[in-house]
Amino acid sequence: MADWKQVIREEWKSRMERAKPGGFFPLVAQGFDEREIIATVDVLLTGRLTMADQVRKFEAKFAKYIGSKYAVMVNSGSSANLLALAVAANPMRKKFLKPGDEVLVPAVCWSTSVWPIVQMGLKPVFVDVSPDTLNIDLKDLRRKITSRTKALMAVHILGNSAPMKEVLALARKHKLLVLEDTCESLGVKADGRYLGSMGDFGCYSFYYSHHITTGEGGMVVCNTQEDYDLLKCLRAHGWSRELSNREALEKANPQVDPRFLFVNLGYNLRPMEVQAAFGLCQLDRLATMNRTRNANRRRIIAALKAHPKWADQMEFPVAGEGTSPVWFGFVALLKAELASHQKSFLKYLSLCEVENRPVVSGNFTRQPGLKLMGIKCNPHDYPGAEAINQRGFFFGLHTEELTDDRIARLADLMLNYKFK
Ligand SMILES: Cc1ncc(COP(=O)(O)O)c(C=O)c1O
Repeated sequence: MADWKQVIREEWKSRMERAKPGGFFPLVAQGFDEREIIATVDVLLTGRLTMADQVRKFEAKFAKYIGSKYAVMVNSGSSANLLALAVAANPMRKKFLKPGDEVLVPAVCWSTSVWPIVQMGLKPVFVDVSPDTLNIDLKDLRRKITSRTKALMAVHILGNSAPMKEVLALARKHKLLVLEDTCESLGVKADGRYLGSMGDFGCYSFYYSHHITTGEGGMVVCNTQEDYDLLKCLRAHGWSRELSNREALEKANPQVDPRFLFVNLGYNLRPMEVQAAFGLCQLDRLATMNRTRNANRRRIIAALKAHPKWADQMEFPVAGEGTSPVWFGFVALLKAELASHQKSFLKYLSLCEVENRPVVSGNFTRQPGLKLMGIKCNPHDYPGAEAINQRGFFFGLHTEELTDDRIARLADLMLNYKFK
């Protein structure tokens, strides 16, 4: 009988040789290979689909890597944010957020950085961001803290970091709960610690285009047994299984069958075994992929700046203080006087098969969903987010080393656009 692993290796190789590239510069280059496929098939061959050993193994490995005590895997980064906020607002927690409490959130973020705040009956209060780092602006952050502020959702944008030293100092001073939406910044350190490990909760996404992928998937990390228990309880229906005080709960409720004992509210945000098997392989290669992304970025910037048509048409964001970013995509802001070109420049890049996106949500206070939820904001109160909205864009930073030719062609395409 043929070795099934060898069969997969050969089949994958031959399919990849025949595969058509997704345009000149797609948002994501192939981010996995036969190693993930073999690990996934291996799990399927055990006959186990739903959450079990692989998930527990991935959680333990992830917690160790990040430097947090506990990790709880979920089915997306959005679920990670939802679960962390649901625990933060859960009455079983010693200190919990109450309806109407204000939660600070940067004006450049992702929709599901904000919606779980709204879904918990809390009030999002937007804070402006710096167009230099894309992250939260400390001056505006200090201005927005009031006696009603009870938590801060720090969102680390596109592989850079929020200014965590100051954020944590302010949180301590004002007794704020800190959630780190690290969905775009896995493997990035600030002041020597991994992002996501510094607040009360750190949330991660393993969507296809992120630093590692499990297709869909996410993780929440925390440091207390109380939060760990609540995360596991709310992740799966609010039932008592997996809780450290399960026996006591069962004894206190003898009238209910312990197999279906619901002690809290809950969701079903569980991942599957195959996602965890995939994630275990991806985590092993995260450091290499991050090094390659950063090297590609350095080489693209160098090629643009050395190009005969370079005339400072765009600016590149800088590292937050104490941070070694791993840029999630190649981000740039057109120079202020070229802002009117943003739409046509991005259309031109798309025509040249350079797949591109806005800088995440742009200025989120412009998003119509806020109005629907009765949240009123004036986008002009956020000049940093407006600058990013009007001048920013990103395209893919691949996890494979780019050839010199490809970089030269990319720089040519970008600078052949007629800004004048
Ligand atoms: C900052 C941020 N938070 C949350 C999410 C949600 O993650 P997911 O797509 O895995 O639900 C994303 C997704 O891109 C994100 O960029």
